[in-house]
Amino acid sequence: MTKMRERLSMDKDWLFHLGDIAIPAQNSHKAVYGNAKAGGLTGAASVEWNDNEWETVNLPHDWSYRQSFDRDNGVPDFGYKPRGIGWYRKKFKLPPSDNGKQLLLEFDGIATHATVYLNGSILERSFCGYTSFVVDITDRVFYGDRPNLLVVKVDASVSEGWWYEGAGIYRHVWLTKKNALSIAHRGVWVNPVKLDGENWLTNVETTVINEREEEVRFELLSRVVTADGKVVAEETSAGIATAGEAIVLKHELPLVSPLLWDVDSPHLYRLESILLEEGERCDGTDISFGYRTIRICPDTGFYLNGRRLKIKGTCNHQDHAGIGVALPDSVHEYRILRLKQMGSNAYRCAHHNPAPELLDACDRLGMLVMDENRNFDSSPEGLCQVENMVTRDRNHPSVVFYSLYNEEPLQGTPIGRKMFKRMKESVLRLDNTRPILGAMNGGVMEDEGTVDVMDIAGFNYMHGGYDRFHEKHPGQPMIGSETVSAFATRGNYVSDTELQFFDSFDREKANWGNTARESWQAINTRDFMMGTFVWTGFDYRGEPTPYEWPSVSTHFGILDTCGFPKDSYYLYQAFWLDEPVVHIAGGWNWPGKEGEPVTIMTHTNCEEVALYVNGELRYRENVDIYEQRQWEIPYEPGTLRLEGYRNGKLVGADEKITPGAACSLRVETSKPALLGNGRDALVVNVYAIDAEGRFVETANGLVSFSIEGSGVILGAGNGNPNSQELDHLLERRLFNGCLQLIVGSNAGCDTITLTLQGEGLQTVAHVIPVESVEEPPYVPSVHERYINNWLLTQDISAQRPDPNVEIHPTDMNSWEKVDVSFGPQQMLQGAEGYVIYRSSIALTERERSSNPYLYFHAVSGDSEIYVDGKLLAKQASPWPMTVEVSLDGAELGEETVLSVLVGIKPDMYQPGINGAVSMGLRQG
Ligand code: GAL
Repeated sequence: MTKMRERLSMDKDWLFHLGDIAIPAQNSHKAVYGNAKAGGLTGAASVEWNDNEWETVNLPHDWSYRQSFDRDNGVPDFGYKPRGIGWYRKKFKLPPSDNGKQLLLEFDGIATHATVYLNGSILERSFCGYTSFVVDITDRVFYGDRPNLLVVKVDASVSEGWWYEGAGIYRHVWLTKKNALSIAHRGVWVNPVKLDGENWLTNVETTVINEREEEVRFELLSRVVTADGKVVAEETSAGIATAGEAIVLKHELPLVSPLLWDVDSPHLYRLESILLEEGERCDGTDISFGYRTIRICPDTGFYLNGRRLKIKGTCNHQDHAGIGVALPDSVHEYRILRLKQMGSNAYRCAHHNPAPELLDACDRLGMLVMDENRNFDSSPEGLCQVENMVTRDRNHPSVVFYSLYNEEPLQGTPIGRKMFKRMKESVLRLDNTRPILGAMNGGVMEDEGTVDVMDIAGFNYMHGGYDRFHEKHPGQPMIGSETVSAFATRGNYVSDTELQFFDSFDREKANWGNTARESWQAINTRDFMMGTFVWTGFDYRGEPTPYEWPSVSTHFGILDTCGFPKDSYYLYQAFWLDEPVVHIAGGWNWPGKEGEPVTIMTHTNCEEVALYVNGELRYRENVDIYEQRQWEIPYEPGTLRLEGYRNGKLVGADEKITPGAACSLRVETSKPALLGNGRDALVVNVYAIDAEGRFVETANGLVSFSIEGSGVILGAGNGNPNSQELDHLLERRLFNGCLQLIVGSNAGCDTITLTLQGEGLQTVAHVIPVESVEEPPYVPSVHERYINNWLLTQDISAQRPDPNVEIHPTDMNSWEKVDVSFGPQQMLQGAEGYVIYRSSIALTERERSSNPYLYFHAVSGDSEIYVDGKLLAKQASPWPMTVEVSLDGAELGEETVLSVLVGIKPDMYQPGINGAVSMGLRQG
């Protein structure tokens, strides 16, 4: 029995070249003719291209954030980072046992335009940096010794957004191997529907695909499995698929009282699909899903599992400090957790599809998602992008809304309306269970626009229009698809236009925006407003509105680019959590400012507060949650204490104690240990502290770091929107007391020691345990160069020919192109005489001086091997044998011509070259 299905990571060991590589000029008949043939592409997509000098990288990979900021040529929206074009190559072998299987390459996301080549042919073009796509490579692969060459050209000079989008293969790549009779890619849709009472029906649609050349009978078993592995429902049915057919089978699995997926208790189940042929398993998939209901109401908003839930959401782009958009899975999880801890229950993927792992994290952690499409486009390509979003994401219980656009100039026009309708129909054909909207910044009152063909009217800002719209369309649900756009700089309490920093008292905002307090009041006091999506949860690179250089990141975030909370984080906690929140916004470390008034503000959901300075009560007052309290008080070093009361009872307090000078660093990791699987990562937060261990918010010194053990520092950040330090260097300034490192696993389980050394600070060695975990299965790369372009004389000559005879450039007929890796050429079997094989290889200077050698996997006959006209090896064998030819000492030109003369006789077994030919280097 062959293996059922394998999903292997393709993330490891790619070769990367930054910059474009032009296709070589085709100025001869031979070149033009050859380039027009399948597998015949020349240039960097060709097997012959020399990639020896390319850099080795692992995915996810973003080349943009490593480049220097470029004020003169850069764009503020992209954070002044260059983009450009890059090439990736990966050579890999497939065992002969894969022959007959279906092989799929999945790309989770490439920024921005990508062309995928396999073995010298274009297999796919992708026009959206956020769309996951799959390429069926079954027809085009080699098995055995001959490596396959996967090449991806990425053109990131094209942009799709006005934020930092990154550049390169910045999400995972996978290779799935499955049997020719199998479950189709994304072929399972699980759609649980609640019936009456506690009864549910788990609707499952499964597409079975028969890639075989004959009809097959099969059985499909679907079963619902609980988190602890218990099968609670199952159904089997039989089917027949003709050759090449894809058929859809429907199962309905009843279940009573499943554990519901909810934001507070995100219970997940698994749908196991098992495909059987003659009683034996031939394929299987495992889909995580959840039981939950959603409902929307124009008067009272959103309901999850019958319970009214105000949407408390944030909008976010996808980059993180230190690593650009190349996020390890655990960083997605870290970010979602941060938002959950703030009391947020919803995440808007602004303005594009997220990485699949982000949705997995939202499923696991209980975060609702507005899944958004990037391009407002009803062309075939645009619809394809929409469909891709739906088929990829519809099994996620976290996804509760689809958004088809953000702020489109056509939103209020008849053209926009037609486009929206067509795109909406594309969604509905695949999934009719989620409300669909667009995020509008105008056009809402137009009768011929997009708004009334939406299930929910998405309002970006425009608070003033909520009531008017609701009056005009009382039957249409409404949501604040984008709100706020306030500015703040973490740990900073004085706005300074020269330094381009904002204070943290929720009073700075974009012209079109609102403070957090204004906005939440507008949403929370209107029952018909379903909720809010604040711009933004996290700061992101680019769009440094209202500033430009030296600002390179936004000022909008509730958390900075690292996920360090700004003061407004606690304001949202006060809005969104039921438990008492008491937080002092304001600094209490102003050397030289004793006696001068400083601003202090409450962030609390307690109705009464008391403020103490060094034990002395200064204020005891009521607090309106939408106003909060703000005081100017004379600064005196010591302890500032804010107490919160509910019903006159003390329920919480916050203190700020003036620290001493920073003398050391405190290190906190996002989890206790790193998994040594080569994929995991953890977030390391570093805080400046004084001799008593108190946080020193004013420390901004340089810290350098090094790592030992099974880990690698992927990057560093500090949340300073104006920092132009490079993220991949092994040093970083603290910003207002904090910095962050992202530490990745490099497969192995040696305990990690992180050493941090700050200016004037004690050196800190922090130990991170590494758990021994097996590396998930992956496809290794091979690095030998394969010599492919062989020509073979058409005639078998009776006379011994000149092995180095010239080939006339127009001669396409007396020499035949042969692919020796496929094995023996039948025309030589049983013949007698001489044939010549001819090829060439271009060697770099470094290769020529690294003791190159040629390796023939199989040659049969009396062979003579010539390199640039010189005989270097001879072998006589009536059956296939390997031949190794050292090129050591040979005078090699830049273009080295290889000629192999083979004398053949009728009794020889498989005469000629009948296996792959490669070139290796003994050193270098
Ligand atoms: C909105 C837009 C966002 C971002 C934001 C800044 O209009 O949808 O992408 O640019 O403004 O306030």
